[in-house]
Amino acid sequence: MQRRNFLFLSGAGLAAAGLTACGGSGGSGGGESSSSEVEVFTWWAQGSEKAGLDALVAQFEKDYPDLTFVNASVAGGAGSAAKDMLQSRLQAGDPPDTFQAHAGLELTDYIDAGQLEDVSGLYEEYGLTDAFPEDLVTLLTVDDKIYSIPSNIHRSNVVWTNVAVLEAAGIDPTAVPADVEAFIADVEKAAASGVTGLSVGTTWTQVNLLEAILMADLGSTSYNGLWTGETDWSGGEVTTALEHFEALIALTNTDRDGLDWTDATQMLIDGKAAYNIMGDWAVASFQQADLTDGEDFGYFPLSGGEEIFGFLADSFTLPVGAPNPDGAKAWLDTISSQDGQVAFSLAKGSIPARTDVDTAEFPAYQQTAIDSYAQDAICPSLAHGAATPVAWLNEVSDATSKFTTGASDVAGYQEELATIAESNASA
Ligand code: GAL
Repeated sequence: MQRRNFLFLSGAGLAAAGLTACGGSGGSGGGESSSSEVEVFTWWAQGSEKAGLDALVAQFEKDYPDLTFVNASVAGGAGSAAKDMLQSRLQAGDPPDTFQAHAGLELTDYIDAGQLEDVSGLYEEYGLTDAFPEDLVTLLTVDDKIYSIPSNIHRSNVVWTNVAVLEAAGIDPTAVPADVEAFIADVEKAAASGVTGLSVGTTWTQVNLLEAILMADLGSTSYNGLWTGETDWSGGEVTTALEHFEALIALTNTDRDGLDWTDATQMLIDGKAAYNIMGDWAVASFQQADLTDGEDFGYFPLSGGEEIFGFLADSFTLPVGAPNPDGAKAWLDTISSQDGQVAFSLAKGSIPARTDVDTAEFPAYQQTAIDSYAQDAICPSLAHGAATPVAWLNEVSDATSKFTTGASDVAGYQEELATIAESNASA
């Protein structure tokens, strides 16, 4: 199953595969309550992420005035606290009506544990199969069943810049570094001007940085092969990427482990940092801070020459035993509808997963993401659930934290990453 999904994602042209989306019965949930409350579990608890959730809720209230949204959000970027809490709730037989997850292998464990209903029937009922890109539906399909519905698509491999800080450091803010080496040289130059060269936060944001470097240094084919066993984690190209990671971590703020992504982004907003590498939910916080695209902040994908879209999609589920399965289906209807997808992405910095909506009025940044998603090579995000099951990501996160806190060197880190890949690929 894992292999099939990745073969698809890593195929140069995302080759056409037979759609099997309509094979299921549509989940019905197992709960008994017919309450009007719909408990929605996310990690969009604060700031621009909360604004994104609010946009969805407003649409939901319009679509289903008789239902009451219950906010079960747990703060912490990338679900850093939410995922453990969710696991406990599912294991205790206390699922929310629906929860946020990612399209891709992150759902593997929940599916294998029998914790998710097949919602492929809703794809038919809501007319989603043709509304989403074919490759996305294929990524979501596991043994002819589909266990979640995407609300949007985010890009993970974006470098964000503070234009004034770059100018003060003598760096042309419109110039895009040709490769990771050139980027490091610019970050060094920025740091020499007295600011933090590259802001970063706690472990998951460091993993986000790592994946962006791996994509740029290895290119899409080799990067995608990291998750299928086709690329050797012990090889020289990974060593180079880890050396680049080491060089960039040395140019980051030393208080990183106590910061979430929002704090690292705030350093850029406040002119305390020149660069930040983060998924494109960051653009929503620039918008919230009233920064102007091109004047106050800039962006480019970290690249080694090839144009790559670091892919992830937020996706909602119907847990087995949800107390209000009909309410959950209503939520799934709203988040997958044309209006829901547009309202959410405008507030969230993402792009709609649906291809049949009008995005002409979307801001400039999102236009670049729409073009890139359509044209560039697609690489699944590690930090955000597209590339691996949760256990593999957790082990990479632990090894990364060890490395960035100085408890291992490049050779030791690489050896650990290789061992983790080997044990998880064969799991
Ligand atoms: C990602 C999620 C995004 C955003 C980000 C930061 O995992 O897909 O929607 O919320 O975490 O928290």
